[in-house]
Amino acid sequence: MKLSRVSVVLVWVVAVLFQSTVYGDPHQPQQVHLSFGDDPTKMIVVWNTPEPTPNASVEYGQLSSASRYANATMTKFVDGGSLHHVQYIYRAIMTGLVPGTKYYYRCGSKYGKSQVFSFSAMRNGTDWSPRILLFGDLGVLNGRSLPRIKNDVTKNHYDAIFHVGDFAYDLQSANGTVGDMFMNLMEPIAANFSYMTCPGNHEYAYNFSNYRNRFSMPGDEYGEKMFYSFNIGPAHIISFSSEYYYFLQFGSIQMFNQYYWLMEDLEEASRPENRRQRPWIITMAHRPMYCSNSDSDDCTRRESLIRTGIPFFHILGLEKLFNSYGVDLMIWAHEHSYERLWPLYDRKVYNGTKSRMTTRRLQSTSSQAQRAVMRTWTHSCRNRQTGQLSVPMNTATPGC
Ligand SMILES: [Fe+2]
Repeated sequence: MKLSRVSVVLVWVVAVLFQSTVYGDPHQPQQVHLSFGDDPTKMIVVWNTPEPTPNASVEYGQLSSASRYANATMTKFVDGGSLHHVQYIYRAIMTGLVPGTKYYYRCGSKYGKSQVFSFSAMRNGTDWSPRILLFGDLGVLNGRSLPRIKNDVTKNHYDAIFHVGDFAYDLQSANGTVGDMFMNLMEPIAANFSYMTCPGNHEYAYNFSNYRNRFSMPGDEYGEKMFYSFNIGPAHIISFSSEYYYFLQFGSIQMFNQYYWLMEDLEEASRPENRRQRPWIITMAHRPMYCSNSDSDDCTRRESLIRTGIPFFHILGLEKLFNSYGVDLMIWAHEHSYERLWPLYDRKVYNGTKSRMTTRRLQSTSSQAQRAVMRTWTHSCRNRQTGQLSVPMNTATPGC
């Protein structure tokens, strides 16, 4: 979605004021944020400094005094804007964590250290229900959700935060200083909880360089791919880039790479022994396949790119792929409105409602796609404790 010209000017003015008053000591860590590592014993921490600080590290431990250290890698990031704004980005992986345990940490170097933050390592196992805070399209201006988010995280309401694309409006605005301002606004939240992301259309500048440099995700620590997956409780989460389908000026090979990675990842997650452990497969990406808005976005079209793939050829479409592997839930953003859809496939709704015709059609079908729809329905209606369906298949089931 686009911001008005007035909003852009306001963001620019705020960024200039911010730049002159908040950066302060150029060796002091800022923009600290966490993400899950590739298993519950690891956590990734990323921070920035305007000036280089060699030999940076993170100190962490179960009490407020640190007992472990992890060295950080430092990369120089030059924004693509006219001022070529420079900053240094540090990534460190805290390892050897005890799942479900609270840790304290601070990061930096002898030139300056962050305040002490804390986090809980991800719980182990699959017999628990993760509490996820989901949102997309959050900026510096008009970030009306920020006070609520800050309030909720202080009460420890969540196990992780998913930001489904479109950051800051924009990360690269005002030569990247709007991105710096946004990441500092998010620091009280994202330095204490895993902040899991995917790219949106607003991150496209300079081939998504601000997004790719500022975030580190499990298996994609340097933003080389913009797609990754991880497990949390009984769910397998897949984050990918919808934007590969829309910004072809940066090449098309990444669409193919991502598609084949998705196939492999879904194949692995769907193996019976894995699906028994983690019955939920959940995807997140920025631009939705469907929407009911009338804003001419791609999701309003009969064949959205992300859903049916390349026009005429119908290759790389994700709906068929996801359905064939029984993806349970797809999370999107971009539309600046809240919609929760019934299970649907190829523009048909399979909602398991009172409609006996619908129920019979689902029960009698033998197609792989519709069996996947059925599997989605049964997952959503299954009691998590007993494994039993919460309602018989032939009764009304709206909302289960
Ligand atoms: Fe968007």
